[in-house]
Amino acid sequence: MTQTATDSQQPRTYPPPAELAAGAVATAALYEEAAADRLAFWGRQASELLTWDVQPTQVLDWSDAPFAKWFADGELNAAANCVDRHVAAGNGDRVALHWVGEPGDTLTVTYADLHEQVQRAANALSDLGVRTGDRVAIYLPMVPEAVVAMLACARLGAPHSVVFSGFSAQALRDRVDDAQAVAVITADGGYRRGEPAPLKPAVDAALEPRDGAESTVRAVLVVRRTGGEVAWTEGRDHWWHEALESSSPVHEPVSVGAEHPLFVLYTSGSTGKPKGILHTTGGYLTQAAYTHRNVFDLHPETDVYWCGADIGWVTGHTYIVYGPLLNGTTSVMYEGTPNTPTQDRWWQVVETYGVTKLYTAPTTIRTFMKWGEELVSGHDLSTLQVLGSVGEPINPEAWTWYRRVIGGDRTPVVDTWWQTETGGIMISALPGVTSLKPGSAQVPLPGISVEVVDDEGRVLPAGHEGAGYLVLTEPWPGMLRGIWGDDERFRDTYWSRFAKEGWYFAGDGARRDADGDVWLLGRVDDVMNVSGHRISTTEVESALVSHPSVAEAAVVGASDPTTGQGIVAFVILRESAHDTDPAAVGKELRDHVAKEISPIAKPRQVLVVSELPKTRSGKIMRRLLRDVAEDRQVGDVTTLADSSVMASIQAGMQSGK
Ligand code: WTA
Repeated sequence: MTQTATDSQQPRTYPPPAELAAGAVATAALYEEAAADRLAFWGRQASELLTWDVQPTQVLDWSDAPFAKWFADGELNAAANCVDRHVAAGNGDRVALHWVGEPGDTLTVTYADLHEQVQRAANALSDLGVRTGDRVAIYLPMVPEAVVAMLACARLGAPHSVVFSGFSAQALRDRVDDAQAVAVITADGGYRRGEPAPLKPAVDAALEPRDGAESTVRAVLVVRRTGGEVAWTEGRDHWWHEALESSSPVHEPVSVGAEHPLFVLYTSGSTGKPKGILHTTGGYLTQAAYTHRNVFDLHPETDVYWCGADIGWVTGHTYIVYGPLLNGTTSVMYEGTPNTPTQDRWWQVVETYGVTKLYTAPTTIRTFMKWGEELVSGHDLSTLQVLGSVGEPINPEAWTWYRRVIGGDRTPVVDTWWQTETGGIMISALPGVTSLKPGSAQVPLPGISVEVVDDEGRVLPAGHEGAGYLVLTEPWPGMLRGIWGDDERFRDTYWSRFAKEGWYFAGDGARRDADGDVWLLGRVDDVMNVSGHRISTTEVESALVSHPSVAEAAVVGASDPTTGQGIVAFVILRESAHDTDPAAVGKELRDHVAKEISPIAKPRQVLVVSELPKTRSGKIMRRLLRDVAEDRQVGDVTTLADSSVMASIQAGMQSGK
């Protein structure tokens, strides 16, 4: 007998709490306004949320698609918008950052403090020869100086390129070289898991001449954080604190055109070479301020907001630095890991500072679930009002746990979908407006247009059973303006998958339920998502084959209950390594990947095999390897050049268990 769904079988939805809805920044009228005239809507956001030196008269110029120009005839400065105007409005005493160091040291940074520091740092950079348009690499732990450094670059109109401090010297070098950075801002080290972790040695290694060519970097500014010993290159290296002390506390911000580059941020694509995603000033800032304000229902006078990301990722750029500061927010910034010194560190911080809005990733939430609710129950989290999630699909179990245990069974949980490329949130509920549906990112924000399409680019209607691809059908202000130095890759990667003019291919699978809500289904390309970090299979494969023992490697992302996906590597060893102990090889290769890329790219498992499954044209069939890695029955093998390969790989797995 077939079952028909009854109302009680429909997933439960959560309407906005009445009190929150009554005082919410965003109302349903926003959707109507944006639908009536999208460009006028964005024009209003730009002029109300930002302070322009020259007010823009144009909104969008899409005549050179896919290269967009937003608010092109306007002029402004990003740092002045994040800091100066709040001081000028009499809010200099407001706390910008409640900073918490991992060892327990704390610092309160007001908008006035930030104002002085940013001006000094801009003068220091300028004295070191940094000019408007020059790129500056930032390789710092989660210390307040990271925020100051980004804003000092923005003040000069010198695009920053922040490199996650967990990346290796090699990864840093690739990024510094690609952006041709003229300076690096780093630290002696930072605290992670209770230990000081050095950073400066990686910078020294990254700046050594490569293939006979000198690095483009002329100056290195070093923040003193751990007090550890550092090697010093006279003439190139300068202490941050000395440079700031001796610089003037007054600096005139450089007014730049709206399309002036604000930053480059590298992210993984489906080939091994990371892409430098380019964001410019006016449009990016508009979307950062607008989304932060509306998605988190931000009330700057009363909120204490905390985003648990790292400034090395786009979430840190938009929702630790630009969005919150543009809105004059008081934020918490935390240096270390959630389990140091104890597993309830985050809840101590929420309680101490009275955090009202919290933004984190599903992998972190699942980790907390694993650690158990007891760690939370001893803390007063009643100040929390809105919780956010980002980085990967959040499963309904984690969503409900987050709302119930952290949010005290009261707070909305907004699941926010976006990418490094989109600059800011694109799909999310509005906490005072939308009834929430666990597991779905739900609806595009007012001003954003999305569709779910099939292989041929035909729009799949709401309620369509099968999965499709997510596309963005209209340009948006925070969109990437290109890939640094590679226009062709920009067109190929995002704009050529569907022949439709101006359709952006996000690389995510999706479906729309009968209510029209969007469910994200993970990447459809060779990009893995491990704890919310984007890592390409090719990148890890290249790192593996750079090891002398490895002849060939294939990498897949296998589903993992905590990290979303875990990296599983299948390697063929060279003759010379055949006699080595497989366990020792596995460990050595995992460490090798950590050194080449970063510990975040370390395979969960390395399996030594004698052959890899390939099609007749030589393409590795990762789909079959994923079946093995996820312990499933292996799918269709008929297109394999040699169909016995899978049997031998599986036999090898069984004997290795
Ligand atoms: C995934 C992070 C489902 C997605 C801001 C996207 C998500 C990639 C969500 C971008 C979400 C991010 N639901 N998937 N709420 N948020 N993703 O560039 O696959 O580090 O394409 O930007 O993360 O990762 P990125």
